[in-house]
Amino acid sequence: SGGALKCSLPSRPQYIPNHIPDPNYVRIFDTTLRDGEQSPGATMTSNEKLVIARHLSRLGVDIIEAGFPASSPDDLDAVRSIAIEVGNQPVGEDGHVPVICGLARCNKKDIDAAWEAVRHAKKPRVHTFIATSEIHMQHKLRKTREEVVNIAREMVAYARSLGCQDIEFSPEDAGRSDREFLYHVLEEVIKAGATTLNIPDTVGYTLPSEFGKLIADIKANTPGIENAIISTHCQNDLGLATANTLAGAYAGARQLEVTVNGIGERAGNASLEEVVVAMKCRQELLGGLYTRINTKHIVMASKMVAEHTGLHVQPHKAIVGANAFAHESGIHQDGMLKHKGTYEIISPEDIGLSRSSESGIFGYDIGGKELDDVFKRFKEVAEKKKRISDEDLEALMSDEIFQPPVIWSLAELQA
Ligand code: KIV
Repeated sequence: SGGALKCSLPSRPQYIPNHIPDPNYVRIFDTTLRDGEQSPGATMTSNEKLVIARHLSRLGVDIIEAGFPASSPDDLDAVRSIAIEVGNQPVGEDGHVPVICGLARCNKKDIDAAWEAVRHAKKPRVHTFIATSEIHMQHKLRKTREEVVNIAREMVAYARSLGCQDIEFSPEDAGRSDREFLYHVLEEVIKAGATTLNIPDTVGYTLPSEFGKLIADIKANTPGIENAIISTHCQNDLGLATANTLAGAYAGARQLEVTVNGIGERAGNASLEEVVVAMKCRQELLGGLYTRINTKHIVMASKMVAEHTGLHVQPHKAIVGANAFAHESGIHQDGMLKHKGTYEIISPEDIGLSRSSESGIFGYDIGGKELDDVFKRFKEVAEKKKRISDEDLEALMSDEIFQPPVIWSLAELQA
């Protein structure tokens, strides 16, 4: 199985906050600049955020969660700048303009700040949240279920009253919330005007089958759910964020919240590159679901986020790690030289990586006896050294016999 990613996507459906005309289209909501920035030590300047937001737009992200405006005047300014510039600038062939979103707790001060920051965008969104699990309501909020439902309903209605048409609501810690209570809260916020219902697995506790069932149950049991988009927000505490996100999409979620390089609170969030590439790679198995992300901009996004946050990507990170396309063992090298599909399920070019930047004897146009000879020499070197560097490979290929063929000039040919 595997091979190059298939990519022939219909154009991006028209944006209506609570409706996706094509049932297989999945919106990508990027929260690198909000949840991602909550990673310890990942604080970015307003300018760095703007630079990243521009690239997220180029990448084709549907919704950019640009920050948490009530958290500081600087954050409000950063979100506002993104709303003004990126939120009004069409990009790509389909003239896509991303939704710009600001996070707010369920209180008027936060919602005012979020709306003030995002309202300059062509498509502004306020995302408000309150916890619904017993442990959070009792110990953190010190509120009863009834109080929580009332606050949620009133604050969604408040955001609506400011003129915001696109409102996302998150029942924080939904993964550990009582099901019936969850359906009730969601029903009430839909009635109050919420257009997207985001289901966070805030502590990354659920297993994929469990999270998929949670989404399917919400879809089946929440009155009025047909008037809203269901979204996932999976933390990675058990290393399951990507798996849970895909399970959620398969079960009916049509918005997926992710971050570039999977950065975020504690063990991070579902990573954009893993979710998007897995969906492309296994599209058939996922029932034909697709996103509009231009995967060729993924490597650049990863590098920009690593550079601006100072959070380096571990070498074994799927898709964007330095080793993600490195084939170390002789058996793998041999297989790759004979057919790339033997050990490669994604083509590096599809994510914006050139073959010359991989480890391996790639980028040289050789075959037959030359290939056998170079592979024999490669194995000799590999036996002596644990790791073969790009320089070793260059040296290996630089013998006269392996020099690229001489390109004759026209004059020489005619002589
Ligand atoms: O993890 C979480 O619950 C969140 C919500 C605010 C969506 O970040």
